[in-house]
Amino acid sequence: MKTVIVIGANGAIGQAALSGLRQHRIVRANRSGQDAEHQVDISDAASLERLFERVGHFDAVVNAAGFCEYAPFLDMSEAQWRATLDSKLLGQMNVVRVGARHIADGGSFTLISGILSSKPLPMAIADATASGAIETFVKCVAFELPRGIRVNVINPTVLEESWAAYGPMMPGFQPVPGALVGKAFQRSVDGFITGQVLTVDA
Ligand SMILES: NC(=O)c1ccc[n+]([C@@H]2O[C@H](COP(=O)([O-])OP(=O)(O)OC[C@H]3O[C@@H](n4cnc5c(N)ncnc54)[C@H](OP(=O)(O)O)[C@@H]3O)[C@@H](O)[C@H]2O)c1
Repeated sequence: MKTVIVIGANGAIGQAALSGLRQHRIVRANRSGQDAEHQVDISDAASLERLFERVGHFDAVVNAAGFCEYAPFLDMSEAQWRATLDSKLLGQMNVVRVGARHIADGGSFTLISGILSSKPLPMAIADATASGAIETFVKCVAFELPRGIRVNVINPTVLEESWAAYGPMMPGFQPVPGALVGKAFQRSVDGFITGQVLTVDA
């Protein structure tokens, strides 16, 4: 049994991740601190530092959080771009950068991207750009992590559980069950792979 910090555990992707991590001791963290052991803001490196210090020993971090703004490119303000990149890109990079100083030998980080980086949709350019960038980050940073630390990113299509909210904006997309996405999180946490993009599409 590993101790796994799950950031954004209460969200749709967080719940999917938990379905694949039932055999582990889970430490939940999220932005509000509601229904979680810890409050954390991934866009704030000092907040991440406090989280990892408070938890102490841990074997894996699963990040299921990443805020995105949605608008047509020509209407998207710089503030909207920064909000997306500060959370889904820099925030996730900080999870690894700060967490690598605290995680156990042989530990793992699992991040989140999304299918929009390879299947573009109107209004979703910031999400798509951040997702593509975090996948490149994972492929490259895997070579630099010390002490057998691994890093992977899950790239799911839309979840069945989120279809009511996003389906109308995603014509021609086929949702997948959260439990299938949970298997990808399980492969990342319990396997030996690193630097991988685990795509879950229909
Ligand atoms: N849902 C899907 O079908 C799907 C598919 C592919 C990819 N994704 C991607 O997965 C990510 C999560 O999506 P979701 O649908 O699961 O969202 P969600 O249901 O809104 O859940 C987001 C979770 O992340 C936490 N969170 C948000 N910002 C945070 C921050 N700055 N620091 C720490 N925790 C934070 C939230 O905590 P609070 O509730 O406390 O604010 C919540 O627990 C997004 O990047 C999304 O693009 C989603």
